[in-house]
Amino acid sequence: MSNYHIKHLEEYYQVYRKSVRNPEVFWEEIAEEHFLWRKKWDNVLSWDFTKPEVKWFEGAQLNITENCIDRHLYTRGDKTAIIFEPNDPNEKAEHITYTQLHERVCKFANVLKDKGIKKGDRVCIYLPMIPELAIAVLACARIGAIHSVVFAGFSSTALATRINDSECKMVLTSDGSYRGAKTIDLKGIVDEALKECDCVESVLVAKRINSDIDMKEGRDHWLQPLLDNASESCKPEIMNAEDPLFILYTSGSTGKPKGMVHSTAGYMVYTAYTFKNVFQYREQDIYWCTADIGWITGHSYIVYGPLCNGATTVMFEGVPSYPDFGRFWEIVEKHKINQFYTAPTAIRALAKEGVGHLEKHDLSSLKVLGTVGEPINEEAWHWYDDNVGKKKAPIVDTWWQTETGGIMITPIAFATPTKPTYATLPFIGIQPALMDESGNEIKGNQVDGRLCIKFPWPSMARTIWGNHQRYKDTYFSAYENKYFTGDGALRDEVGYYRITGRVDDVIIVSGHNLGTAPIEDAINEHPAVAESAIVGFPHDIKGNALYGYVTLKETGEGRNQDNLRNEINQLITEQIGPIAKLDKIQFTEGLPKTRSGKIMRRILRKIASKDISNLGDTSTLLNPEVVQSIIDNAF
Ligand code: PRX
Repeated sequence: MSNYHIKHLEEYYQVYRKSVRNPEVFWEEIAEEHFLWRKKWDNVLSWDFTKPEVKWFEGAQLNITENCIDRHLYTRGDKTAIIFEPNDPNEKAEHITYTQLHERVCKFANVLKDKGIKKGDRVCIYLPMIPELAIAVLACARIGAIHSVVFAGFSSTALATRINDSECKMVLTSDGSYRGAKTIDLKGIVDEALKECDCVESVLVAKRINSDIDMKEGRDHWLQPLLDNASESCKPEIMNAEDPLFILYTSGSTGKPKGMVHSTAGYMVYTAYTFKNVFQYREQDIYWCTADIGWITGHSYIVYGPLCNGATTVMFEGVPSYPDFGRFWEIVEKHKINQFYTAPTAIRALAKEGVGHLEKHDLSSLKVLGTVGEPINEEAWHWYDDNVGKKKAPIVDTWWQTETGGIMITPIAFATPTKPTYATLPFIGIQPALMDESGNEIKGNQVDGRLCIKFPWPSMARTIWGNHQRYKDTYFSAYENKYFTGDGALRDEVGYYRITGRVDDVIIVSGHNLGTAPIEDAINEHPAVAESAIVGFPHDIKGNALYGYVTLKETGEGRNQDNLRNEINQLITEQIGPIAKLDKIQFTEGLPKTRSGKIMRRILRKIASKDISNLGDTSTLLNPEVVQSIIDNAF
């Protein structure tokens, strides 16, 4: 029997050693014993980080939905697979059993097939957090279509870019969505985006808010009548281990988002195994991850990881503040949540409201708490531990990325002693390395450096859609034979890791990964703007907020600055979405540049953080004089 459920620290070390000494034997055992295969692999792993090319379980055949649904039907057919908790607390929660999920996924899959979707086609999913979103994801996987979920908070321009990049044939959306007291016209956003997308042949529309929307003859179809007429049985498409399962976009250092491509078998094995261990999920537990399925956290730890383990997973449509800041705790009590997984930004926002809301609810069901998406500060960690977990529920601070597919550095609940702000130890099979700036690995403890991974793991992204060279350049070129994460980290005296934040041009705002380049591109479209630079600065709730330095053209100089600021934020909202709006916009005479013309962001970051005591040597700049004028006009 392989070590599928690790229970104490000694066992962790034992299994970890085994997993790195002989990764192929280790992962083969896990894959063999815990998953359903149509055909076993010929080769567990082949890899070459110089190309880069990684293949896990090559030659194997499977369908991930058989693992997530069909194989549970005999033993867990009546068990709840998904609990849907609507935005409005007065609307009834929906409990979908594994049997019902099977039926709904099959019907949806048949509708996709009827509309001409085949294995390998890309389907864009732009849906709110309603059951149809999870079902659509699984329906694509059922027939081998590659899903590309776009978070339904992205603007029409961002949606169009993503649809075009992977040439999606179909878009799945809804008439609108609820978000707290607001409704959002999702179909209107899709219509706007599709003006730019010739590749889309059809749009299927789920009804959620019953709004009066335009339906384009021949292209748009209401989903429900199609589902009503579809058959309840749909044979799973047999997929090869390395066939792409999905594309998910993440920001990068250029304006164009990167479509990370995840494979089928490795992704399945790793997300299922991490889910079971990190959260110590047990058969009767109710697990809730508050993320949106539009992000990787939702893909791996709302849908695939939990369902593969036959778990009960909660999908929440709303926001933590609606109807008030007690909503999360009300849901924990209502559904008797055992594992609760959220982001530090949500914890900070809730902590700010005090403990009054918490005291009104019985949180005694909670066994494990999780965080993800950004570093958690000490104060938030303790608030979570003291008030939510009552010091009895271990906090798993899970570090990972869209690119990694699954959790990489994390405590294993009840096994790994936790330490505030530390993601602690590498998960089974993960081999981290800290690197110095000249490309050498920094060995030993009590050191810090740039975080790389030395050896492949099953759920790593295989490429960037349509641009393998960019995949190589971004992740495998900074350090020879290593995957570079873009994060900095330190390793303490016992080997625990603490992630210190991004060392590249990505800024994490409220747990969302934002590239500076696309935001700057949006600002620079303003006719009065000559140039701009974005940096992050510390923010109590969001972790980081965005500070924009903007240089105007002559035409902009006489203009009302508040109007300009509004126009700039409006442009960002249109091009990317409201999550990328700037908290501060400072108009500057110029931007500090090196002699080769590169903007010195380091200086701008320090000024934005009000840390001007040690700006370093500015005399080598092309235009040192602008630094003082920026400081004089900052904040
Ligand atoms: O900087 C790290 C931060 O989020 C980045 C990845 O963002 P994304 O691809 O959107 O995926 C987020 C959800 C997995 C990382 O490079 N990050 C993620 N988790 C943590 C974290 N930083 C510190 N601690 C974490 N637990």
